[in-house]
Amino acid sequence: MTLTQSAPDYSPGHWRSHVAEVLTRARNRSRLLTDSVDDDDLVRQHSPLMSPLVWDLAHVGNQEELWLVRDVGGRAPVRRDIDELYDAFKHPRAERPALPLLGPAEARRYVSEVRDKVLDVLEHSPLEGRPLLQQAFAFGMVAQHEQQHDETMLATHQLRSGGAVLDAALPPLGVRLPAAEVLVPGGPFTMGTSTEPWALDNERPAHDVDVAPFFIDTAAVTNDAFMAFIDAGGYDQPQWWSAQGWVHRQDGRLSAPGFWERGGDTWWRVRFGIREQVPPDEPVMHVSFHEAQAYATWAGRRLPTEPEWEKAARWDPSTGRSRRYPWGDEDPAPEHANLGQRHLRPAAAGAYPRGASPLGVHQLIGDVWEWTSSDFRGYPGFTVFPYPEYSRVFFGSDYKVLRGGSFGSDPVAVRGTFRNWDFPIRRQIFAGFRCARDAQPEEAS
Ligand SMILES: [Fe+2]
Repeated sequence: MTLTQSAPDYSPGHWRSHVAEVLTRARNRSRLLTDSVDDDDLVRQHSPLMSPLVWDLAHVGNQEELWLVRDVGGRAPVRRDIDELYDAFKHPRAERPALPLLGPAEARRYVSEVRDKVLDVLEHSPLEGRPLLQQAFAFGMVAQHEQQHDETMLATHQLRSGGAVLDAALPPLGVRLPAAEVLVPGGPFTMGTSTEPWALDNERPAHDVDVAPFFIDTAAVTNDAFMAFIDAGGYDQPQWWSAQGWVHRQDGRLSAPGFWERGGDTWWRVRFGIREQVPPDEPVMHVSFHEAQAYATWAGRRLPTEPEWEKAARWDPSTGRSRRYPWGDEDPAPEHANLGQRHLRPAAAGAYPRGASPLGVHQLIGDVWEWTSSDFRGYPGFTVFPYPEYSRVFFGSDYKVLRGGSFGSDPVAVRGTFRNWDFPIRRQIFAGFRCARDAQPEEAS
């Protein structure tokens, strides 16, 4: 093992080949998600929560055109006439099917025409000067955007009715972990980043946060553990729920995670068109923040705060510094985490020992997004970049933060600092949770 670390290659040449690779990977995935269903399925709205898949596809192309063809490249518009149709702020998801959208063939032609121009812009752009160009930020932002929509499209696949159209290998098997929870010592750590090239505005800047000692689960809460909550009557006992959570549980008639149904003594689920028994050792998913919080309260525990989650994921006690990822500073590789839709399900606890954090917390990255107890807010010193609609308009108590990415998140769109946010009632996303608790004074050293 060598102790020397070579400096990262941040030359324009490096960025050009890296950008081409991540843009191609995103497009291959968008193609897979849209070519695997017929035109009827592409234009249909599978749930009022989601856009028709054909809207996502052209929207991805339109954002790529706005930022890379027009802004970075300074080139003439490809289709200025459709900007308004694909502006997510002008048209909520529910009304998108009624818009005069590009049809499937036209949308495919459009996104590939935009991409051809973008590859030309990439070749000729200096990748320095304006902040948007430095370290190819705008290209990184667009690649992350397409991958985020790919994950959304994957969630649309989960909501569509009909048989399976996607296929993937099983993830690695789980291994029993030596401990169910670990102590994270109290004290300051560095949260957020000022150096990660493609970190978004809400992840910046790096700042010190003091955290009291706490325990955190080494793995996400499993289906088996969640069934115990159901069997104990957890969905019928308001004492475990917040006031807002209980109202939602009543209104939504919730009685189990999304896509579950009971058949006799057995829990079944539908996963991408396949009906199967709920596997006991996988992380529970398709639970809202309210369900996660009720479970944690019932179990005598709580959800971690966002700083707690990040300290457990990034803080290295031997150096005192925060890593880019739990396993170190290297970009995610397949042995580190279940990312990138390589598998169509989360993996059981212990399946990625090489991805564990220095403190022994497993699978913080990949598998399922993890609800935290924190509202989505700007860090001290937050600056809007490159536009207020990226994050700032969402700051406040309406949204809860989720961390770590899921099996449906691409490596380019997840980091130890990456922050996702959603309404606390949402369940169509690939979200689960792990629990934490305060350390008592006698446990804290
Ligand atoms: Fe978008």
